[in-house]
Order: sequence, then C-alpha cells, then structure tokens
Amino acid sequence: MDEIKKLTVRDLWKMKQAGEKIVCVTSYDAIFARIADEAGMHLILVGDSAGNTVLGYKNTIPVTMEESLMLTAAVCRGARRAMVIGDMPFMSYQISEAEAIRNAGRYLKECGADGVKLEGGKKFAPLIRRLVDSSIPVFAHIGLLPQSVLKEGGYRMHGKNDAEAEEILEDALAVEEAGAFAVTLEGVTASLAEKITAKLHIPTIGIGAGPGCDGQIQVITDILGLGGAFLPRHAKRFATLADEAVKALKGYVTEVRKGVFPAEGNFTK
Ligand code: KIV
Repeated sequence: MDEIKKLTVRDLWKMKQAGEKIVCVTSYDAIFARIADEAGMHLILVGDSAGNTVLGYKNTIPVTMEESLMLTAAVCRGARRAMVIGDMPFMSYQISEAEAIRNAGRYLKECGADGVKLEGGKKFAPLIRRLVDSSIPVFAHIGLLPQSVLKEGGYRMHGKNDAEAEEILEDALAVEEAGAFAVTLEGVTASLAEKITAKLHIPTIGIGAGPGCDGQIQVITDILGLGGAFLPRHAKRFATLADEAVKALKGYVTEVRKGVFPAEGNFTK
C-alpha cells in the first residue's frame, strides 16, 4: 500500500495563505470516512450532527461522549489522509475545565483523532487556551450553535444586525487569540463571514456562511441524499443515494422471494 501523508494543521494554514479552498465534510463511520478520504476531503468532522443523522435523535443534545468516541474511532480507522476531528457533545466541556480537558484528550488517546471541535466564542476562549496548552488542537465553532437550540428557541441566521455581527467578530478574534487552529462559521451572513475571513490568520470554514470563507463544511447525509426529504438551504444534494439504496434492496427482496438469488456461483454444492 502506498504511503499516504496525513494532513495536519500546518497544511490547512498553508492552504489559507495560498488562497486554496479547504473542503470538509462530516462522517460517522469507517465506510464513509474511507469514501470521503478517497474523494480528496481535507478534514472529516465526526460531528455531533450524528445525533440527528445516524443516531436518529431530534437534535444534537442527547449525543453522549461514549457514542461520539465510538463513531470517531471508526472514522479514524477509515480515513488515511484527511484530518479527523471529534466533536465534543453537549455537556462534555461546559461543566468544568478539568472534565473538558479529560474528555477532549480521550479523542486523541482512544480514537486517534487529530483534534476536537467545540461550540462557543469568547466565553470559551479560556478553555480553548487550556486545551491548546495541553497539546490538544481545537477547531472552534461560532455563529449558529446547534447545542444552544433550546436556549435560542430554534435555528436562525446570526449576525444580521450590527451589534450581533460585532459580537461574532469578537468571538472569532477571541478563539484565534486562544490558539484554535481553525474556526467554523455557521449560519452567519456572507458579508460578515468575508469580513472575519479577511481579519483572521487561521482558516474559516463556513456552513451557511456564503462563499467567502477559506473552506466549506457540509453534513455528508445532506450532500449524498441520505438525509430524508428535508434539505437545509445551505446544503446541496450531489447524489440521491437513499433512492439508489432502496432500489438495490428492493432488487434483493424480489430476487430472494422469487428464488433467483442466491444463484449458481453464490454457493457451494
Ligand atoms: O455537528 C456538525 O456536523 C457540525 C458541522 C456541521 C459544522 O458542527
């Protein structure tokens, strides 16, 4: 097997400097991690979006550390070149700094992840600093924070008025100053995302933040057409794999029922 060079935070920084777009996607198992890696993804996030995608919860709130670690370890086994980032679930880093550091370290030690992501801006900057000082690379996440859906009363665009835009810019500067290697900008206006991208030295990775970010991230089930009928406005379906899967499985059902499968060659006499 060819030696494949694993990407690192340095590669992402160089890409920003060179004006090369960084492409990221979520994955939750080894199969899709392998596929994403083969497609040339630079970073795979084992998002807590696992909650509403593969785990069948209604949002990301119920995801546990044990679930997240199991999925992250699987993705690490599937990806060879892309960086793999574990996404710290709700209440795994908010209770105390000690608990947050212990939990974050588990992604590196037990799964082989290349870093962790957590939601929050300047209020979480001291924690980001402690994690980075403990040699844990941190991917920050600001703007729309899905773990705050109950507090916010739903999902909405952020940064539409001047005061909120200023707060988000301060969040971006604070997480960079704290040592985050990159920052996700979720659900913020394209003009604000462009402004933040121009001010920061670290890469900005947008989702629902327009084309002016240094890179983009999408949820894999949305872009492959595996996520049901609903498609968020920020996403685009590049395939309809659920339809293909149903077609294939219907073929299997039909052939077994008709006695066509298994056929000669599928078994030993
Ligand atoms: O959990 C997730 O998938 C995310 C990304 C969409 C940014 O946080």
